[in-house]
Amino acid sequence: MSRTERTQVGIVGAGPAGLVLAHLLHLQGIDSVVLEARGREYVEGRIRAGVLEHGTVELLDEMGVAGRLREQGLPHHGFELQFGGARHRIDLSGLTGRHITVYGQQEVVRDLIAARLATGRPLVFEAEDVSLHELESESPRVRYRHRGAEVELVCDVVAGCDGHHGTCRDSIPDGVLSVFARDYPFGWLGILAEVAPSSEELIYCWSERGFALHSMRTPRLTRLYLQCAHDEEIEAWPDDRIWEELHARLDLDGWTLGEGPIVEKGVTGMRSFVVEPMQHGRLFLAGDAAHIVPPTGAKGLNLAVADVRVLAAALGAWYREGDTAPLAAYSETALRRVWRAEHFSWWMTTMLHRPPGGDVFDAKLQLSQLAYVASSRAAATSLAENYVGFEPDPA
Ligand code: FAD
Ligand code: PHB
Repeated sequence: MSRTERTQVGIVGAGPAGLVLAHLLHLQGIDSVVLEARGREYVEGRIRAGVLEHGTVELLDEMGVAGRLREQGLPHHGFELQFGGARHRIDLSGLTGRHITVYGQQEVVRDLIAARLATGRPLVFEAEDVSLHELESESPRVRYRHRGAEVELVCDVVAGCDGHHGTCRDSIPDGVLSVFARDYPFGWLGILAEVAPSSEELIYCWSERGFALHSMRTPRLTRLYLQCAHDEEIEAWPDDRIWEELHARLDLDGWTLGEGPIVEKGVTGMRSFVVEPMQHGRLFLAGDAAHIVPPTGAKGLNLAVADVRVLAAALGAWYREGDTAPLAAYSETALRRVWRAEHFSWWMTTMLHRPPGGDVFDAKLQLSQLAYVASSRAAATSLAENYVGFEPDPA
């Protein structure tokens, strides 16, 4: 069985990028079809990022999808940098007038899926063998299989929002994209534990044993990370070993980390990666499909949202006024923010992680940088304005 369908914007991927784009288009009366390889349960249960920039929350609010986020999200006005046996607070609100909100990515995704379904516009889960065709024509096509039927979706444009391992980026002919990448010789072992957070604020911790991060999801769920090898086997980390290592890195005189049952654990490798341009013909890449950052700066999800904000506005101008300029400038506009976040994420990562085989010289430089950030208002402000989300000049 096969059929042909038509839409204005074919969106591949129902992560934050695809779902935010779909809703921003809907609000402008633009039709789209969202195709997602996985099932709804899987997508809604995938635990990833947790920090939303000020601007991300504002956008979700303007879109009318922030009801639960406003109720359950945890506003954070600062965070702690820990090194040399002491904590130093970075006062985000005091330094920038802006704050961040801790709210799990899977909750954002759940809210966006509910909003999408309420519009009655299509969101296809378990779309198999998605492939892109005729990207350089005025009617690019997305082919996929769903419940045994072969479907050809004819579009005006295609948005590749299918993450780092998706298919859209690879559909661009060889020689078009430049790739800029850096792999780090370490990863993060992340856990979710059923215990109240031991600190009201996030703690980014430099330790001789490697980086550790204390974060949270709710008043009863703590999220914790440990620097580990990039190819670390999770089997080598029974729960007792994880807690022992977290205590060794995070505990201070008079403060100890609270423990609880570990309900989720996994290892994430760390990579910086950007392709330029983020568009080819009628295909526009957004979010992790075009770039990834190491998670130390908490930027991945926020960048994905920032990309599609630019893309949705550009598509709106094109459909409403026939203005092609914003769409032609999409990649250039998005990349200004992408590279700022790439630098910030690389900088935070380099400052806080012990490189394998690193010597005392490396450690002394890191500790000097940390002491500078903790004691100079200018340095702390620079960190804070990047952390809450720096808006590069539009021009
Ligand atoms: P994604 O969220 O990856 O969404 C892409 C969607 O496309 C997925 O639903 C996928 O199933 C779907 N898809 C893939 N291929 C196809 C296909 N061929 N056809 C149809 N659909 C397809 N960032 C942080 O800031 N902090 C963190 O702690 C953090 N942890 C992370 C842990 C992991 C394991 C990963 C992978 C990422 C993490 N990130 C983190 C990054 C952050 O989660 C991403 O930047 C964010 O998810 C980007 O959103 P996106 O919509 O671009 O991509
Ligand atoms: C998280 O809570 O998952 C988290 C917080 C801050 C980061 C990365 C991840 O930098």
